[in-house]
Amino acid sequence: MALREILIVPDPRLKQECEPVSEVNDEIRQILDDMLETMYDAPGIGLAGPQIGVMKRVIVLDVSDDKEKPAPMKMVNPEIIWESEDVSVYQEGCLSIPEQYADVERPVEVGVRYLDENGKEHEIEADGLLATCIQHEIDHLDGVLFTDYLSALKRNMILKKVMKLQKAKKSA
Ligand code: NI
Repeated sequence: MALREILIVPDPRLKQECEPVSEVNDEIRQILDDMLETMYDAPGIGLAGPQIGVMKRVIVLDVSDDKEKPAPMKMVNPEIIWESEDVSVYQEGCLSIPEQYADVERPVEVGVRYLDENGKEHEIEADGLLATCIQHEIDHLDGVLFTDYLSALKRNMILKKVMKLQKAKKSA
């Protein structure tokens, strides 16, 4: 496994749509392992392909709150197949938008279809934090960031803060 560099806004790759994976092979399994290692190292609870410059429909997640018992999930070509009318609001953050958080409203429950690391198809129902996290990560595969749900004013404010933070980091 290897740590990968996490891309930060305004990297243009974060705004691109990703290609579906045509075959779940060793290369894809390696990418999924690297993504999990990179996510845990950050640390974060989810990571999508484009965040490490891999423009493929792959995401990893772990929303368990018990650090002793990791519950890694790997999803290839994940799709939302249904969503509840009820919504919930979570304060979201993103490893590609470091140290910035904002409330985002999303369906509270979703059905998700995906392939696992062996190419086997699964369908699950998710709610709560897992549902929010899956929706956030699938958005990444379509070039959508959580800040796209905010007003342009708020979005630009967050972008400016991130750019300032990154500049300070580079000169430190
Ligand atoms: Ni994100």
